[in-house]
Order: sequence, then structure tokens, then C-alpha cells
Amino acid sequence: KQSFSELKQRAYKNIDDRKKTVARDPYRLHFHIMPLVGLLNDPNGFVFYKGQYHMFYQWNPFQTEHGAKFWGHAVSDDLVHWEEAPIALAPDQWYDKNGCYSGSAVVFQEKLYVFYTGNVKNEHGKRESYQCLAVSEDGIHFEKKGPIIHVPQGYTMHFRDPKVFEKDGKWYMVLGAQTEDEQGEAVIYTSANLANWSFQGVLAGSGHNGLSDFGYMWECPDLFELDGQDILAVCPQGLSPKGFAYNNIFQSGYFAGKVDYEKILFDHGNFIELDRGFDFYAPQTTADPSGRRILVGWMGNADEGDSIHPTIKHEWIHALTLPRELQWKDGKLHQYPVEELQLLREEGVHHTDVVVWEEAVDLPRVNGQVFELEIAIKDLAAAEFSVEIGEKSSFRYDAKTQICTFQRGEFSKNGVEGRHCVLESLQNIQIFKDTSSIEIFINNGEEVFTSRVFDNPDVDEIRFIAKAGHVKIDVKKWNIK
Ligand code: FRU
Repeated sequence: KQSFSELKQRAYKNIDDRKKTVARDPYRLHFHIMPLVGLLNDPNGFVFYKGQYHMFYQWNPFQTEHGAKFWGHAVSDDLVHWEEAPIALAPDQWYDKNGCYSGSAVVFQEKLYVFYTGNVKNEHGKRESYQCLAVSEDGIHFEKKGPIIHVPQGYTMHFRDPKVFEKDGKWYMVLGAQTEDEQGEAVIYTSANLANWSFQGVLAGSGHNGLSDFGYMWECPDLFELDGQDILAVCPQGLSPKGFAYNNIFQSGYFAGKVDYEKILFDHGNFIELDRGFDFYAPQTTADPSGRRILVGWMGNADEGDSIHPTIKHEWIHALTLPRELQWKDGKLHQYPVEELQLLREEGVHHTDVVVWEEAVDLPRVNGQVFELEIAIKDLAAAEFSVEIGEKSSFRYDAKTQICTFQRGEFSKNGVEGRHCVLESLQNIQIFKDTSSIEIFINNGEEVFTSRVFDNPDVDEIRFIAKAGHVKIDVKKWNIK
């Protein structure tokens, strides 16, 4: 077994030194993966291996800023109770010394193969990028095998985030790339043995399949099949806001269509954002033994907001989202909180046929900081329906304009800010609130709003309000430990 590198020892010491400060934060989460200390970003290497789910994540264990990333590691039997495992990868080799950047995992002949990007800043301050392999026989200890792919001609050193999968007896890898004329692309490689890889071509990007000027770099691609559709999830950087779309600094969404793996051609539709909230990026999917396609994202975004994030004074920042099951329905991806989340339900309360008018309604025992809330809309005969959660967060549906709005308090000022999308109808709302996070699933996963919220932790009311008319709802709420 490998010995702990000095770098890992320093990380463990830092965790120990700061764990009291971290634990004192009232905004620590209860049922999400978050860093023990420091900064967490992308989910990596999400895989089911030898009877357990493994989730790795980008992690700077020394600071609440981006830096030379480690791969942190959490393990679960059921997707909802996670246990922290030892650090999986530390940036301790010449080819990854400035970060073991994002990547993925596959199981082959009972071993776990992880692929990641070795990020290097050379002596001239220039970036280098190597796609690297590490192998594990127990899912806990990893042996690094070094670079397996170097950046090909025509691309800049923004070439990263390998996602590997198997199809028809062949291994494929999709990578995020930037061309020399600064256009974002997803490119594809194949391999017969996971060690030797050959470049196949461009799967999607500016100048392909009708796309033009679609971002200067594409990060974290993921390609999978769902119900006969080929889906490329990807994160383009550099799109300008367009109405309600593309309002976060970087975007995360998908293209659906058909891939011709012989010719490497992807006939796809428009780019659709995966989440409408403030904090969602770099998701990764895996298929579990029952064939479900499960997605987890980073509940954050590469934001200037990091510097004013309320958790940094407690020496940690960011978390991963809840796992969501993906389904293809009515020409669109739907995202459902995985059913295992029901295992977290504690005391519940159920109110039927509640009629809501202008006056805010507080229902008995429907309050809290850490809970799951289900609202079924039985009759919407009002101009507007809203649910207010705690001090400043709310979800609102305007029946006339069909606009859904999620609103939260600004991090550093006294105002509120909103994100929106349009939905033809409002049938149900499912909300997961975990002290400082809210995930709102609307109409059985037709749209999702994911955001961090930093309201007064002592205010735990939930209010229902209708404007100009009434709304009839069923409400179920469960506390979560
Ligand atoms: C996305 C990303 C990836 C990169 C990683 C570094 O958030 O920028 O492209 O591999 O984060 O932490």
C-alpha cells in the first residue's frame, strides 16, 4: 500500500487544526457532501464499485480559494449517507503538481481506473495539461500511472476533464477543450485497453452542427445514452446572458441528439440549461447497477462571490448537490431527487386541501431549517402563488406570465436577487432545504433551482401566499436529521 505523501500529511494536519472553526458554522450542511475544510468544487469519479457508491471531488484542503486541487473522497451504500474516505489523489507529481484536476472513473477487471487532468504551471508560468491515469484495487488506495494523453495540435493548454465510458466493447473518453482560435469544444478519444488512447475528432463545438461562437472553453463534458437519446452535458464558458438564460458566470447544460460513433458526428438540438438556480456547475453522471442514470453537480459556480461567501470565515466553502435521477420525458431531461432520499425522512406532517388566499398561511409544524417539503397544486385560481422560506428565500409562480422565480437574500447586501424560468403550468413543488442550501424540483423534475442561501438561521417559518384569487394545495413535510 502506498505511504502517505508529505502533502497528504500536511492536509490532514490542516483539517485537524481547523475542524473546530468549521464545526462552529451554523451554515454547515446536514445531508450534503461538503469539504472537511477548504474549498470543494466539481464532483469527480462518480462510480459504483464493489457494492458501494464512490464520489470524489475537487478539493483544496488548505484554503477557501482555488489552488492545487486534491481528489477528496466519500463512500456510500445508499447515495444519501456518505462517509469520508482518505484523500484519493494529492498533487505530488511533476505532471500534476498544480492540481489533480477533474476527471472520472470506470471499473475494469475488478479494478477502479480513474482518469484526471494533471495541471502544471511550468517554470515560465505557462500552463501544461496532461490526462493521467491512476488505478486502485480496493477503491481507497490509488497508484498513479502518469500521463496517457498529451495535448494534441490545434489546441491550447485548456484541455481537460476526461470522462471515460464504455460503448459496444470499446472505451471512449470525452474531453473539454479550447481550440487555438479560442473556441470551446468537446473532443473524443478511443482505447481498447484504457492505457493507449487515440484522438477521434470533435464531438461538438463552435463550427460544428450549426453552432457558432458558443463559448471560449468547454469544461467537464459527459456523454451518455438515455432512452435512445445521446446526451452531451457540458459547461461552456463565455456565453452572454440572454433573457432568463445564462445568468450565472459559467453555464451548465446539455445537447441531446444522436452520435455517429463511426464518423464522430453529433446531430444535436439546442443547448438547454440543467438548473435555473444560482449555484450549479460541472455535474457528472454515472449509471448504477439498476441502470439508473444519476447526476450530481457542484453546488457552486466559479464566482467572484467566493470572496464574500458567508462560510469562509469558518474556513470552508461549497458543497455538492443531492443526487438526481435523470429521465428523458417529452423531449427533455427531467431530474428527480433519487428515491433513496426518502430514507432521510423523519417526523412528517401532512395537510390536505389547504386553501391559500392573500393572507399568508403558516401551517402547523410546517417550518424548519432542514427538511423536505412537497406541495401538490390541486387548484390554481390565483394570479400568483408563492412559498416563502425563512427570512428571504422564496419561490413564486405567476400564472399569467408563467414565470417561475426563485429569490434569495444577497450575500453581502440587504437586497434580494432572483432567477427565473417559464413553465406552462405549476403542478407540484418539491423542496429540499439544508440550513444553507435549497434545491427546488418543479413539476416532477421538469425544472430545478439549486442555490445556497444564507438567511438568519433562527428564522424557520414557511409561508404560503396567493394573490388575486386562491390556490388549493396538499402539503407534506418531513424533518431531516
Ligand atoms: C470546473 C473546473 C474544471 C477543472 C477543475 C479544477 O469547475 O475548472 O475544468 O478541471 O474545475 O478544479
